[in-house]
Amino acid sequence: MNPYQQKKRWKYLLLAFACVIASGSLFYTSYLVKNIARSERTRAQVWAMSMRQILNSDDNDFLKYTIAVRDSLVVPAIVTDAKGDIRLSRGLDTTKTYIDLPSPGKKYDLKYFKDELEYMKGQHEPIRLQILGEENFVYYKDSPLLTQLKIFPYVQLSVIAVFLLMAYTAFSSSRKSEQDQVWVGLAKETAHQLGTPISSLMAWIELMKEKFNAEDDVLVAEMENDVKRLEIVADRFSKIGSKPVLEEHGVYAVVKDFVDYFKVRVSKNITFEMSGNPHLKAGINIPLFDWVIENLLKNAVNAIDGKGSIKVEISGNKVKNQVFIDVTDTGKGIPRSKFDTVFQPGYTTRKRGWGLGLSLTKRMIDNYHNGQIFVKDSELGKGTTFRIVLKNTRNDKQTKK
Ligand SMILES: Nc1ncnc2c1ncn2[C@@H]1O[C@H](COP(=O)(O)OP(=O)(O)OP(=O)(O)O)[C@@H](O)[C@H]1O
Ligand SMILES: [Mg+2]
Repeated sequence: MNPYQQKKRWKYLLLAFACVIASGSLFYTSYLVKNIARSERTRAQVWAMSMRQILNSDDNDFLKYTIAVRDSLVVPAIVTDAKGDIRLSRGLDTTKTYIDLPSPGKKYDLKYFKDELEYMKGQHEPIRLQILGEENFVYYKDSPLLTQLKIFPYVQLSVIAVFLLMAYTAFSSSRKSEQDQVWVGLAKETAHQLGTPISSLMAWIELMKEKFNAEDDVLVAEMENDVKRLEIVADRFSKIGSKPVLEEHGVYAVVKDFVDYFKVRVSKNITFEMSGNPHLKAGINIPLFDWVIENLLKNAVNAIDGKGSIKVEISGNKVKNQVFIDVTDTGKGIPRSKFDTVFQPGYTTRKRGWGLGLSLTKRMIDNYHNGQIFVKDSELGKGTTFRIVLKNTRNDKQTKK
C-alpha cells in the first residue's frame, strides 16, 4: 500500500474512533439527563402534594414539616388556576417578587412570570393539583443543574475538538519542517556528490578531444551533451532548499526552449504546439522552471499513452498583472475529486511512479516562484489542462511588433 493510501486509511480510522467517542459521550449524558429529569418530575409532584397539604391543613406541626419539605425542592415551578392565571411561583428570580401572585399592593413583573410560564409549558406536561376544592396546575422547568448537564457534552466535545485541532496543527507543522530538512539535505548531498565526477568527466572529454583530435566527432558531442545534462540535474538539486535567485525572463522564450529540447526526445506519435503572447515577462529561475515544465510534459506524455497532442499556451491578465502558462494534453484525464490530491507527495496511479513530480512542481512554483499551479480543467478520456500563474513583472515592449 502506498503512503498516500495508508494516510487516508488512518484518517478514516481516527475519524471513526472520534465518532464512537463522541456518540458514546452523548449517549451517556442523555441517559443521565433522562434519569435526572424523571427525578425532577417526582420532586415537582412531591412539591405539589406538599402545597396541597399546607393549604388544606390546620395542624401546626404538620404544617411546619410540610413547609420544610416544600422549601427543600429546587425545581422552578409556577402554579396556575383552572383559567390559567398565575397563583404562585417557586424557585424563580426572587428579585421579581416571589410568592402569592397576584397579591394586593404588591408589585411584580408579570411579563417575567408569563414568559417563564410559556417556557415551562413547552418543557413538561403540567401536574394537576386540587387545592380547597379548586383545580390548579403546576408547571415546572428543568433545574439549572439539569440544564447545565444537557449542554455539558457539547461544551466538552468542543473543547476536546479545539485541543485536538491545535495538537494536530502543531504536530503536522513540526513533521513538515522535519520532512523539509530531510528532503533539502538529501537534495544538497546528491548535488554535492555528483559535482566531483561531473567535473572530472568534463575534463576527460576535453582531454579526449585533444588526444584523438575528435573536436567534431558525433559520439563525443553526444557524450558532452549528456554530461551537460547531468550538470543541469545536479544544479537543480543544489538549488532546492535555498531560496533561488529569480531573474526577469520572457516566459514564452524560456518555455519554448525547453519544449524544443523535450519534444525531440519523445515518441513521434505525440505532437507539440506552442502558442500565445511572446512579450510577457516574469521572475524565473531557469533550471528550476525547466524542471517544472519537464514534470508537466512528462506527466502529459504518460497520460496520453500512445497517440496525442500537447499544447502549451502563454497568456496574461493585464488587470491582475499575471502570466498564465497552460499545458494541455489529450490524455486520460483526472477525476474532479483528485484535482487537489494529485499534488500530494506519494499520490500516483502509475506502476513505476513515485508520485513526487507534481508535489515537487508545486513546491517550486509556490515557494520559489511565488506563483500558483492547479488543474484548470480536465475531462476523463479527453484530456487535462494544468495552469501555472506567475506575477507579470513587465511586458517586453522592445520585441513588440
Ligand atoms: N496530465 C495528466 N493527466 C492525467 N493524470 C495526471 C496528469 N498529471 C498527473 N496526473 C496524475 O497525477 C498523479 C501524480 O503525478 P506526479 O507527477 O506527482 O507523480 P507520477 O507521475 O505518478 O510519478 P513521478 O514521481 O515519477 O512523477 C499521476 O500518477 C497521475 O495519476
Ligand atoms: Mg510525474
